[in-house]
Amino acid sequence: MTTAASSPAQSIDADFYQSADAFFRSSLPVALTFDDVSLSTLYSDILPKDADTSTTLSETLRLQIPIISSDMDTVTESRMAIAMALNGGLGLIHYNMPAKDQVKEVARVKRHIHGLIQDPITVTSGSLIGDVLGMIEQKKFAFSTFPIVEEHGKLVGLLSGNMVKERYRTKRVSEVMTPRTQLITEHERNVAKDPIKSADAFFNQHVGVNKMLVVDDQDRLRGLVTSSDVERIMSESKLRRKPSRDGNFRLVVGAAIAPLRKASGELDRDRILGHVGALMDESIDAIAVSTAHGHTAGVGDMVKMIRSAFPSITIIAGNVTSGVGVEFLADCGVDAIKVGQGPGSICTTRIVAGVGIPQLTALYVASKAAQARGVKIIADGGITKSGDIVKALTLGDAVILGGLLAGCREAPGEIIEINGKVYKQYRGMGSVSAMKAGSAARYGHDKNDQSRKLTAEGIEALKEVSGSADDVLGGLVGGIQSGMGYLGARNLAALRSNARFIRISPAGQKEAAPHDVIEVSTRKN
Ligand code: XMP
Repeated sequence: MTTAASSPAQSIDADFYQSADAFFRSSLPVALTFDDVSLSTLYSDILPKDADTSTTLSETLRLQIPIISSDMDTVTESRMAIAMALNGGLGLIHYNMPAKDQVKEVARVKRHIHGLIQDPITVTSGSLIGDVLGMIEQKKFAFSTFPIVEEHGKLVGLLSGNMVKERYRTKRVSEVMTPRTQLITEHERNVAKDPIKSADAFFNQHVGVNKMLVVDDQDRLRGLVTSSDVERIMSESKLRRKPSRDGNFRLVVGAAIAPLRKASGELDRDRILGHVGALMDESIDAIAVSTAHGHTAGVGDMVKMIRSAFPSITIIAGNVTSGVGVEFLADCGVDAIKVGQGPGSICTTRIVAGVGIPQLTALYVASKAAQARGVKIIADGGITKSGDIVKALTLGDAVILGGLLAGCREAPGEIIEINGKVYKQYRGMGSVSAMKAGSAARYGHDKNDQSRKLTAEGIEALKEVSGSADDVLGGLVGGIQSGMGYLGARNLAALRSNARFIRISPAGQKEAAPHDVIEVSTRKN
C-alpha cells in the first residue's frame, strides 16, 4: 500500500494516517508504546477468520500463530509448551532448573502425542480387586479400566471397569481379566503419525471396543487411546488451530539457555555446548540465548559458539532495543532477535537502571536493521491485550507473552486463593527469588557471589487465574485476525505493509476503552 495518493480523500488519509517510516520519524524525539498509537482501517476484501496468522522465525521454524510463551519459570515448562505448540505457537522452556531437567522437559514436549496416553496406569495380574479399588479411591481416578502388564511392560490382559466392584473384592485380577488372546490391539507403527485418525478408524471397525491398546514388536504396552478422548479431540479440532510440528510430526519446542561462566569469568564452552548438544539429541527446534542485555560480548560469543557447533539450529537471542544491537546479533549468526528492555509487566529495569525504550519505537528501530540484515524480530514484553499484538506485528514477526499466559492452568505453580479469588504466582526472572533459583546470569550477576547484593530488576506478583491456554490463545488469535481484517491484510506481511499509524492523546485512550457505563461482567472465573 505505498501507491501515491490519487484522490483528495486518499491524499488527506495519507497526510493523517502515516506509514511506520513517516510516523515514527515524525514523532521524534518521543518514543512511543502500544497505547500511544492506533491503527487506521483500510478497504478490506477478507473476512477475519480467513486471515493467515502464520509466521517464520528461521528457514526451518514455521509457526501457525505468531505467539511464543516466555522463558520464565512461572510461565513455560512442558505443559505450557505442549499447549502452545498444539495451538500453533511455540513455548520456550525456562532455564531455572538443572540442565538435565530442562532436557527432560523438552523430551516431554517432543514425545507428546495428542490423544495417546503414553504412561497409562496399569495393574498386575496378581493384585486383588480390593487393591485396585483402594488405588482408585486413594488417587481419585475417574476411570476403572486398566491394562494388565507383567515385567518389562508385556501386555497380559485388560481389567474392565465392570469387574472392578465391591462384590469381586477378594478375587485376583487374573481371575476376572480379559486375557491377551481376546484383546484387539494396534501396533505403534500404525499409530505414531496420527493417533486420533487411526484410533477413530479402529473404533469404527471394532464396534463395542472403547480402549485402543498400543503395543510394540515385543507386545509391550506403549500407550492407550480411549474412544471418549477421540470424540472430544475431534470435536475440539474443528475449533482448534493447526499445531506447530516439525518434519517428523512432533510438536515444536524451544529452550532458553544462559551465558554460563567459569569461576575465571570466561564462558564455560564445554557446559554450554554439552547442554545444547543434549537438547539437540532431543530434536529441540530453537535455542534462545536469553539475557536482559543482548548487545554484549558474552552473548555475541555464545551465539557464535553455538552457531559454529550446530550450524542448522534456529537461534533466538536478545534482548536489544537498538539497530546496532540487531546488526551485532545478526552478524553473530542469530535467526531471530528478541526486542524489549523494560516493557514487561513485572520488569523494573527502567526504574532500577534508568534504561530501556518504549516498546513500539524500539520495535520500529529494530525492524529497520532486521530488514537490512534478513533476520526476524520478536516483540518481548508489555503486551496486555490482543490489540497490542496487532500493533507489535505491524513491525515484528512474532510476540512473546509472559503475564497474559501466567494465569493459565498450564503455567507452572500452585493456585493460591485469597479472599475467594484464585491466583497464580508470576515473578520477573530478575526478581531476587528467581535470580537465586538460577536466572542471575541473565541480569549479569553471579548467584553464588556473596560479595555483592543481587539488584532486582523485576518483581514478584500474582495473576488472576485465567482458564486454559486454549481459551486465552483463542481470544488473542481472534483479536489478531480481527485487526488483520480491519487492515485488509490476508497475512502478516500484508499487515506490515498496510499499517498506518496515528498518535493518540490521553482523551483518545480514554475513549478507546469502555467508558461512561457500568460494565456487566460476562467473564468466566
Ligand atoms: P510481560 O509484559 O508479557 O513481559 O509480562 C514478559 C517479558 O518480560 C521480560 N522479563 C523481565 N524484564 N525484569 C525485566 O526487566 C525481570 O525481572 C523480567 N522477567 C522477565 C522477559 O523478556 C519476558 O519475556
